[in-house]
Amino acid sequence: MGRAGRRPRRRRVQPAHPPPGVRPRMNALVKDPTVWTDVGAVTDIPARGARRVPTPDGDIAVFRTGDGRIFALKDACPHKGGPLSQGIVHGHAVACPLHNWSIDLATGEPLGADRGKGCAPVARVRVEGGRVLVGRV
Ligand code: FES
Repeated sequence: MGRAGRRPRRRRVQPAHPPPGVRPRMNALVKDPTVWTDVGAVTDIPARGARRVPTPDGDIAVFRTGDGRIFALKDACPHKGGPLSQGIVHGHAVACPLHNWSIDLATGEPLGADRGKGCAPVARVRVEGGRVLVGRV
């Protein structure tokens, strides 16, 4: 039988939804709902310092540590709401300017004797091309 007599190959069609019991795979079509806002250059934040960034959800404190890492917390101490952006950065923590609680920059939780007494919400932040981006969902 020649080529002309063959039946055309059936193309496999992917179902729009996976069968019941099968988890859908994550792929590039799944979008991250985070809205990222450029808040300035990394070099605008002094080493071991911070900048206050106003957002519709309240002020965010963006910190730059001595080793160049960037963190972001809501700019309110879990103790009595002191402005963390005006605190002193040491290691990966900031000392609140009002009563000197030490707050972990990665978790927003107080360190030492004040551990477990509240938490400053952590803000999403990333660095891309030397720019600091703060995320909102
Ligand atoms: S308000 Fe920050 S330690 Fe009291």
